[in-house]
Amino acid sequence: MTTAPARPDAPPTGTSGPYVGAPVDRVDGVVKTTGAARFAAEHPYPGLAHAALVHATIPRGRVTWIDSAAALAVDGVLAVITHENAPAMRPVKTQSVLDLSTLVPGSTVNHLASDEVHWDGQPVAVVVAESRQIALHAASLVRATYRELPSTVDFATEKRNALPQKKSVVDPGRAAKGDAEAALSTAAVAVDHLYTTPVHHHNALELHTTTAVWDGDRLTVHEPTQGIDWTRKHLAHRFGVPVENVRVIAPFVGGAFGGKWHVWAGTLLTVLAARVVGRPVRLVLTREGVYRTVGGRSPSEQRVALGADADGTLTALIHTSVTQVGRVGGGPEPATGLSRYAYAAENVLVEQKQIALDLVPNTYMRAPGEAIGSFALESAIDELAHELGVDPIELRMRNEPERDPIDGRRFSHRKLREVYALGAERFGWAGRSLRPRSTRDGRWLVGTGVATAFHPANLFPANVTVRISADGGVLVRCGLHEMGMGAATAQAQIAADALGVPIESVRVEHGDSTLPAAPAASGSTQTASIASSLLAACEKLKRSALALARGSADSPLRGAKPAEVQARDGGLHAARGGETYAAILARAGRSSLDAAVGAERGFAAVAGQVRFMSKFLLDRRRWVRAASGAQFCEVRVDAHTGEVRVTRWVGAFDVGTVINAKTVASQLRGGIVMGIGMALSEATVVDPRTGRIVNPGLAEYHVPVHADVPPIEIHCLGDPDPTMPAGVLGAGEVGITGVAAAIANAVHHATGRRVRDLPVTLDDLL
Ligand code: MOS
Repeated sequence: MTTAPARPDAPPTGTSGPYVGAPVDRVDGVVKTTGAARFAAEHPYPGLAHAALVHATIPRGRVTWIDSAAALAVDGVLAVITHENAPAMRPVKTQSVLDLSTLVPGSTVNHLASDEVHWDGQPVAVVVAESRQIALHAASLVRATYRELPSTVDFATEKRNALPQKKSVVDPGRAAKGDAEAALSTAAVAVDHLYTTPVHHHNALELHTTTAVWDGDRLTVHEPTQGIDWTRKHLAHRFGVPVENVRVIAPFVGGAFGGKWHVWAGTLLTVLAARVVGRPVRLVLTREGVYRTVGGRSPSEQRVALGADADGTLTALIHTSVTQVGRVGGGPEPATGLSRYAYAAENVLVEQKQIALDLVPNTYMRAPGEAIGSFALESAIDELAHELGVDPIELRMRNEPERDPIDGRRFSHRKLREVYALGAERFGWAGRSLRPRSTRDGRWLVGTGVATAFHPANLFPANVTVRISADGGVLVRCGLHEMGMGAATAQAQIAADALGVPIESVRVEHGDSTLPAAPAASGSTQTASIASSLLAACEKLKRSALALARGSADSPLRGAKPAEVQARDGGLHAARGGETYAAILARAGRSSLDAAVGAERGFAAVAGQVRFMSKFLLDRRRWVRAASGAQFCEVRVDAHTGEVRVTRWVGAFDVGTVINAKTVASQLRGGIVMGIGMALSEATVVDPRTGRIVNPGLAEYHVPVHADVPPIEIHCLGDPDPTMPAGVLGAGEVGITGVAAAIANAVHHATGRRVRDLPVTLDDLL
């Protein structure tokens, strides 16, 4: 571990105690392993009814006739809701960065408000019944006929009609320096290839589920969402009730990966159904239902062209992409986003194009952009290294930029040289043969590969309150999201260190919209965003406690200056002595002491958002901030069958401060496992004639199982980023980036075959 020089404008890292950095057990470990933790579909309600969806079977057109009679005749069916009898929801609002909740609709469709069908799988009816089994059976009896309209559903044929993506605050979609095409054409050595990736789905263990309970015009929703606050605001708008009347509860989310960021049809229709039948209603989507109504990752076709001098100095870097959105929703997949930061080429062109199809809108999936963009870029770099006959790490280091290659911004924490050195040493890279197909072990062709991992670091505003009680207990309240990554544990560690109390005395309340509002858990931003406010709240609390103590003639802290006071051993300590928070409170006759950061509503809340946004934009102009890493793997390919086994993995990362050595390693390992799936087995198949997903389930969409995953070694530099709260760059997504390229590069090293279309399958290697 090395220490970064402090900057005068650096935020407090707050990391001087015993907990931050330690492999602390999860605070929710016991409730989860004993089954006491209640997930969204596990909350009992008297009179609970159950819903099931009926999905459209054409990609585009109108429902001409829908027959609910057979479904209604089933014993236990309470209602069949179609566009013919559904009460109206308000239409979605226009998107605005001033109200981030306007970004959460999964599509612009106002479900069951009309007879229009926009994708195969769109809900055309909701059946409500006494049990889930009855609802699913009755849903299978609903018949619809359609008048089909012309549709475009095939990415492969439509990609030639792609148009440049619209520019946004977060993603310009295009960047250029010099004349990359000209430089490419005169380069001493060049590679220029197309890479493709298919649609991917998240497949969280916990299915999408909603329980909606109306009490007059008050609404309670249990929903495993990545964004309780924005979901709450969106539901209030769609159903025409004040925001205060809506409560969204999600203490635990059973995996999300981006798939639970938007508010999808099932959520809205469950709330609507509960209003119709006047009872609490629960919908648990089938796995197929998730594929039909929740978007996945866009497919892509990417061109990467690299030109270099004979010594490997890059002169041209071109990365362009075509991805897809739904015609009724979805957003850009920033596949080329990482390429502008990756290498110090003289001439650069990155550009994203997209097409709109009559399919369920796409959505975020773990490292949107970088996950698939790094496959293309980092495969191409390996191809260039092969052409040049140089080691692929050496080629990267020769072209490692000192600043943003396009606009010269500083990197806040560029540590790729360090992570490569660390990874290469742990993996045993030195002495690797450059020649493909040079190592054989019986029937196995053995190869090794490497690729860069990269994911931008961002922040959102978060509200937090902290309370110290007379018994010394600390309560942190924040509507943050615990989706399996250890979010509450990390914040408990930060609070314990900041206040100098044992972690056992810290409780973190999370996952409820009655708590101070947190941003959505997305973009690997949650830990740093909440740490920023939590550290500020703890500072306020310590100042209030000191002010109480200083006023008392009996206190050993009397007259102590804030600068000389340390928080430790459950209280505050100065040179002349100290005392516990409990003692300070007792003497002052106080039962508790509170501190809050962030306003919930009104002018103060808006002013806070504006302040945050302006600092955010200023920071973006000053720094490129990102987590990064180096992925090393060994594969064995069966020379007779083409079967690929990943047999060894070392990932070396710079995620800034490691708050929890155990959960950070698990996050990174999880990203790598997901990347192995992306490389070798995952692909959602869309029928090019009908727009129907033909493999909507785990039987035919193959995610890695234990037997597919080798031991994965994780190493982190553990060095704080001086510009990020608590020094954290984020560990949620960087782990998946670079994985597919490292595997494809290792497959090339093993076999001499270059596979540019994911997933890499047996037939590519025979
Ligand atoms: Mo993430 S793909 O921002 O959940």
